[in-house]
Amino acid sequence: LATIVIAMDGPSGSGKSSTSRGVADRLGLRYLDTGAMFRAMTWFMLEQGVDLTDPAAIAALAGKPLIASGTDPLAPTITVDGTDVAEAIRGEAVTGAVSPVSAVPEVRARLLQLQREIIGAGGIVVEGRDIGSVVAPDAPVKVYMTADAAARAARRALEEGGTDAAAVEASLLARDKIDSSRATAPLTMPEGAHHIDTTPYTLDEVIAQVVALVEAAT
Ligand code: C5P
Repeated sequence: LATIVIAMDGPSGSGKSSTSRGVADRLGLRYLDTGAMFRAMTWFMLEQGVDLTDPAAIAALAGKPLIASGTDPLAPTITVDGTDVAEAIRGEAVTGAVSPVSAVPEVRARLLQLQREIIGAGGIVVEGRDIGSVVAPDAPVKVYMTADAAARAARRALEEGGTDAAAVEASLLARDKIDSSRATAPLTMPEGAHHIDTTPYTLDEVIAQVVALVEAAT
């Protein structure tokens, strides 16, 4: 387990974050939320006042911010040039802008390099959209999580403190569409991944399923 990489991919609200943290905690592994890194990059672009409809402008600044992610599954942290952005990156401004920023190849190349540095020798659960396909294609355990759109929206609405589930569902589906159709590293079910549809299961049940996959593979 000291060197294992567990790749967790899937669309927004499929339960990846809670499951990934739970699995890392149960197995004593580190945890990396790559979505938080894309959100941090987006926060930086908004701070800089970059025109988000201009991929060249985004690309020109992609190498500037120093993004640092802590890997404790019970207390994940994220900073940009030393500023704690953990709360800011969950706000509506970042959520609404993150998919177009993440589609820019220079953004992905910069964060890919950082992600590979953090993964290092392994012993980590990594969640995102392209982990099993691009970031860690040799990961011995790959999971692709999905859930019904309504179930995903209901979970997110609950997390966000009772916002309108229909509006959340529309926003999730819009992000999924951009994430799945971009040219560079689109959201896709990686080769060799175990598909878990989490709709009928509790969080603990899904964590147990992933732990069982890890035990079978090691
Ligand atoms: O996982 P989360 O919803 O926080 O991710 C936010 C956004 O970051 C996604 O909608 C996607 O555009 C982008 N992302 C990505 N590749 C990853 C992780 C996230 O493009 N590996």
